Amino acid sequence: MSLKRVGILTGGGDCPGLNAVIRGVTRSAIIGHEAEVIGIEQGFEGLIFDRHRKLTIAETKDILPLGGTILGTTNKGDPFQYRQFDKDGQLTTQDYSQRTIENLKRLDLDCLFVVGGDGTLRLGYKFFEMGFPVIGIPKTIDNDLAGTDYTFGYQTAVQVACDALDRLQTTGESHQRVMILEVMGRDAGWIALESGVSGGAHVILIPEIPYDLEKVLEKIRLRKEGGSPFSVIVVAEGAKEIGKDVITSATASTRLQGVAQLGGVGGYIAQQLSDRIDLEVRCTVLGHVQRGGTPLSFDRILGTRLGTQAVEAAAQGNLGTMVALRSQEIILIPLKSLAGITRKVPEDSQLVRTAESIGLCLGR
Ligand code: F6P
Repeated sequence: MSLKRVGILTGGGDCPGLNAVIRGVTRSAIIGHEAEVIGIEQGFEGLIFDRHRKLTIAETKDILPLGGTILGTTNKGDPFQYRQFDKDGQLTTQDYSQRTIENLKRLDLDCLFVVGGDGTLRLGYKFFEMGFPVIGIPKTIDNDLAGTDYTFGYQTAVQVACDALDRLQTTGESHQRVMILEVMGRDAGWIALESGVSGGAHVILIPEIPYDLEKVLEKIRLRKEGGSPFSVIVVAEGAKEIGKDVITSATASTRLQGVAQLGGVGGYIAQQLSDRIDLEVRCTVLGHVQRGGTPLSFDRILGTRLGTQAVEAAAQGNLGTMVALRSQEIILIPLKSLAGITRKVPEDSQLVRTAESIGLCLGR
């Protein structure tokens, strides 16, 4: 299939490596196929409001080390239920799908590359089912997408969290304190687990293994009795205590997104521990620091490979698919197969067992 005109959008939360994908798609479509490349701005919002621009090799020059996405993104741009506040401050939901379809038809793309996490990919599949040529490219720092071994952005986020743990170790040891680091990941514990193992945390709490506070206290006490009166805990934002719910908050911006914001479990545990031990406890919430900034080379390479392979898949007519990393190779899987599946840490996975075999506490 000859590619005359392709489009690309980045949707959902940003992550390091998005610009490598945009560059990979743009360069390979132009160099390999002499195609025109259209960059849709702010995810699906750009399709609703017809905001896009032509991408050239010159425009994607020097963007590899850049964090974020040169196209912009949003996680509240669903054309089927677009949320906004009206002039009285009331939340309204509008169906903009018809105008999105008209804008898409006018763009006349041979393929739209949809770069995003589960929500964005689900939207991409919806448009594919309506007859538009779509290929998905998986993205998220959470590494929780089904079908791919890794998502780009994840390794950078883990490294940021690992660096933070290294720093918390030294100040924690100097002051003989319990230092808690809350990291992102939504309902998956990948960032907490891998940063915890690589950053030498003594306790790792992940959503997949509800924690028993007594086990955490026991670990801290044993360390103190053994001559180490400090401990470092990494906790995933989606972690929860046995029998309790995950901690969320609902702000105006989360009402716009339609999903609750996770976070606060680090502070909750700090309070629980402070009431039970005679050590000072401090909590750091790493937040969006994990999403910003320059990508590691791993994420640049993965982004470049996924972007270029997506263009090849389009040229071969393999639409309605997602490019994925499987055992070092980029493969294609049906976009359909991803629906509603979150890839979580198996609670008996080798890395969980490795962590426990070297004496780390996983709260059980
Ligand atoms: O999915 C990526 C992620 O960073 C999650 O780890 C986190 O819960 C969420 O996005 C935060 O979203 P927002 O940017 O809307 O605060």
